[in-house]
Amino acid sequence: MNKKIIIAIDGYSSCGKSTMAKDLAKKLGYIYVDTGAMYRAVTLYCIKNGIIVNRQLDEEKLRAEINKISVGFVYNPVRNRNETVLNGVNIEDEIRGMKVSNWVSQVSAVAEVRKAMVEQQRLMGKDKGIVMDGRDIGTVVFPNAELKIFMTAMPEIRAQRRYDELSVKKEDIHFDEVLENIKSRDNYDMNRKESPLRKGDDAIELDNSFITPKEQLEWVLARVAEIVAE
Ligand code: DC
Repeated sequence: MNKKIIIAIDGYSSCGKSTMAKDLAKKLGYIYVDTGAMYRAVTLYCIKNGIIVNRQLDEEKLRAEINKISVGFVYNPVRNRNETVLNGVNIEDEIRGMKVSNWVSQVSAVAEVRKAMVEQQRLMGKDKGIVMDGRDIGTVVFPNAELKIFMTAMPEIRAQRRYDELSVKKEDIHFDEVLENIKSRDNYDMNRKESPLRKGDDAIELDNSFITPKEQLEWVLARVAEIVAE
């Protein structure tokens, strides 16, 4: 496969976008970018720098500090994966917990945050050969992506997968809390003014409620093969 393309994977929270995107990038020898991690990193910055205090997000302070926030990825050979770096510090584990999950929708709804992240994402994709997952990749970041997938799965199934992940990490967590977080993030992400989550007309929908990661990878590889053969 010589022709390099851009693959945009969007969809609801915790429906396996990153599992599919990672598997796909590995198989194709492409770069994988988890844009949710970028918004999570900005959220962690807000928590650590007094931008989220007393259950309030200080949007003005966030806008004033957005240029001080640098988010990137670094390869960790021990875990054989890319990890998220915030202003030079590896924060991969910290950004996955519920504290960040509870605030990330609000932080990512701020126009200036989106502008800064989208700029970086476009730079990462300028040479193609990239799989990027998020909420607005096919609709905003790369409207000309050759392949756009919109993933869905039943909320209860998504919550169970997320709950299992968090339990392994020994996070003290209740299933209902995870389900509530997923539903409220979906709601927030779909109804925000800036780049709301929606399926683009040209995106292919994939509901993975009842298929395995292996089956979904085979399905998407078949779509890629059709495109690169064109
Ligand atoms: O993919 P994730 O659940 O880690 O993403 C965390 C949050 O970031 C999600 O609730 C919405 C936001 N997000 C976004 O607004 N745009 C993206 N491209 C990716 C994530």
